[in-house]
Amino acid sequence: MTGDDLTTTGDGAAELVAKLTLDEQILLLSGRDFWHTNPVERLAIGAVHLSDGPVGVRGERTVGTTSVSFPCGAAIGATFDPQAAAALADALADECADKHVHVLLGPTINLQRHPIGGRHFECYSEDPVLTAELAVAYVTALQARGVAATVKHYVANDTEFQRHTISSEVDERVLELCYLAPFEDTIRRAAPLAIMASYNRINGTYAAEHAHLLEEVLRQRWGYDGLVMSDWFGTQSTEPSALAGLDLEMPGPAVHYGARLAEAVERGDVSRAVVAERARRVVQLAARVGALDGQGHFAERRPRRNLGERRELARQLAAQSFVLLRNEPPSPDGDASPILPLDLRPGALLAVIGPNAATTTAQGGGSARVLPVRTLSVRDGLRELYGPVGVDVAHEIGCVTWAETPDLDVPVHLEYFVLAAEDAEQGVSFDGPVVHEEDSPGSPLLWMGDPIPSVAELRYGAFAVRCTADFTPELSGTYELSLAQVGSARLLLDGRVVVEGSREQGKRFYGFGSEEASGRIELEAGTTYQVVAEYEVATGSPLAGLFIGVRPPLPSEDDLIARAAELAGRADTVVCVVGTTAEWETEGHDRATMDLPGRQDDLVRAVVAANPRTVVLVNAGSPVTMDWAELPAATIQIWFGGETIGRAVADVLSGADEPGGRLPHTIPVRLEDTPAFPYYPGADGRTVYGEGLLVGHRHYATKAVLPRYWFGHGLSYTTFSFADGRAEAVRATATVTNTGDRQGTAVLQAYLAPQERADGEPALQFAGSARHTIAASDSLAAEIGFGEAQLARLRPGAYDVLLGWSAEPAGLTTVGTITAGA
Ligand code: BGC
Repeated sequence: MTGDDLTTTGDGAAELVAKLTLDEQILLLSGRDFWHTNPVERLAIGAVHLSDGPVGVRGERTVGTTSVSFPCGAAIGATFDPQAAAALADALADECADKHVHVLLGPTINLQRHPIGGRHFECYSEDPVLTAELAVAYVTALQARGVAATVKHYVANDTEFQRHTISSEVDERVLELCYLAPFEDTIRRAAPLAIMASYNRINGTYAAEHAHLLEEVLRQRWGYDGLVMSDWFGTQSTEPSALAGLDLEMPGPAVHYGARLAEAVERGDVSRAVVAERARRVVQLAARVGALDGQGHFAERRPRRNLGERRELARQLAAQSFVLLRNEPPSPDGDASPILPLDLRPGALLAVIGPNAATTTAQGGGSARVLPVRTLSVRDGLRELYGPVGVDVAHEIGCVTWAETPDLDVPVHLEYFVLAAEDAEQGVSFDGPVVHEEDSPGSPLLWMGDPIPSVAELRYGAFAVRCTADFTPELSGTYELSLAQVGSARLLLDGRVVVEGSREQGKRFYGFGSEEASGRIELEAGTTYQVVAEYEVATGSPLAGLFIGVRPPLPSEDDLIARAAELAGRADTVVCVVGTTAEWETEGHDRATMDLPGRQDDLVRAVVAANPRTVVLVNAGSPVTMDWAELPAATIQIWFGGETIGRAVADVLSGADEPGGRLPHTIPVRLEDTPAFPYYPGADGRTVYGEGLLVGHRHYATKAVLPRYWFGHGLSYTTFSFADGRAEAVRATATVTNTGDRQGTAVLQAYLAPQERADGEPALQFAGSARHTIAASDSLAAEIGFGEAQLARLRPGAYDVLLGWSAEPAGLTTVGTITAGA
């Protein structure tokens, strides 16, 4: 793949398409399998390899082949830094090279419309301008490396409620000014080679067959010349989709295109010219990503080259994304300086408490997940940093937040066996030849399609796996081990059968898995046991899955909190890590509430009461209710910060790095304050975007609703001021000074306020930001440019330009006026 390929024009593609038969053209319009398009060997048109995306490159396999897990979309949003998005995309291009991926399925540029949206963590921001700035940088950097970006999900796919069918009912103007804006800007400024139509309907019509949005808006108005693909299983029809502009049905094999499309052409419902045009887009994409080399199969490998650099980038991005929400002196009558950065001496006791301390959530759930190389928890990151200097890092879980049994989170060794038809009836003996071996991070294990594409004997729906792991419990007592699987399985501990898998159908693995079966066993803390799961799948289904669960012998919830408070009381400093997990924040469903799951609010209160020197870390991709916000000395939002999150936390708490993020969304006091709240989730298959243009901070500023934390808020370990603010037609400028005694990063923000507000219009809207790292006592000139498209979206009239450090109206300074539409 070379960057030059991306400049290939459509002309060559048209010539190539003219040489294809109608059947070959139709073949190109649907996937071959989950992650490839169909090749046409006769003309050396290779298969195009696609992969999720958007903050890691998972590749074809969900077992075995690891990928670096970078901070989630909301964390990238919090950097307020297009260069960070570009650096991420550049590293993702390296990952794509390892996995031989031509097309990355990202970035996700839907807006964070509702705090409980399941994919809120995957999106950058509630704001269209910030979203667009980051997306343009990401797409440009990725494509400069020869990999196609796919902006998704087009459009108004902002929550997960009834996600495959819901109709987002959005006024045209609102659609254009808010939800389409990031797509329009990214397409005009960065020319992504692909776009993914969303699952939902928009004003009654499915996105993948929306002639107005695909043809009139995207192609004609914005001049888009890339490829439109469906979301996975998101194609709903044959003729309407083909005629509206859907080029590629994914995944394959075809359901609505393929034979049905051939029949539609035969009947005259779809013209040959339409098919040829769709095929031209696919060939053009193949040409642009260098897939006209006839290749059909690609070997994927774990990240190899510069793995250390990629993980270091993940760490830097995480630190840069952490938002310091609060930083106060620990107690009113004690030390006057804020608690952070921590000052821990040798011999100090640091208590690391909370359900997310030892198992920190590095990524949200759903298709954005990758198999990380090695995830470092907050507890272990702090131990790595502070252990060698003699700080004792002690841990208590404090409470649990599991919705379901937690996974056995230890690396596993996998041995694959071929399952012959006669074995399928009797069960394999597991002493036959091992045809393939590999290591993988722990449960759950999910295989889609052939388990190891490069091992021909292993075919989907008929293979067996012996999965071996070492497990060293942290507690002594009765553990419950469990299993759920697609097919059959049993679990042995040191050679003894502990669980026989159930045959009843359950919920796991998209409903294909069995009920969970469990067994109890006494285990000793610190002893290493060998856990073996013998698993076979003989269903003929392309989906195979094995879940191994473990419930430790925990005391009652009250006892857990009491133990945590007792440890906190003895400690010099407490780090309390609360948050959600990929169970709560995931593609597929929204959260039911904004509250922290389980007894975490009680835990924070108990820990702070025991020790005022407490720093709370919120390990979540979305806002959580923080009724305790004024209690801890400091609070940091650490997002789903990717696999090096623990190290990034240690560096930020110790002061080696500063928490460089600002909130890309508003954190409301109560969920009910959310602008979309009255309209969520909708009824009768429709969800009305009744808040109109007042998305996110625009609502809070316009309606004078006080949030917990404003969009754009985030402290630094130093302090800043600005002076000489000015506004001209297309920019605002100011001199920013670091008024503190250490280097820090300032994020100056510009907002626009119409001098005469029309009905339904925001009183204030974000217009751009400038991020600068400034040495102590230094000053520099900051400039915030307003984009052409952004200005064109303003109603003609005069707007005050305001500068400040967040969207909080009271903290903003008017520096001038601009006139829109003049
Ligand atoms: C998601 C997409 C993703 C696709 C492929 C869908 O469920 O909505 O974002 O790219 O699956 O995994």
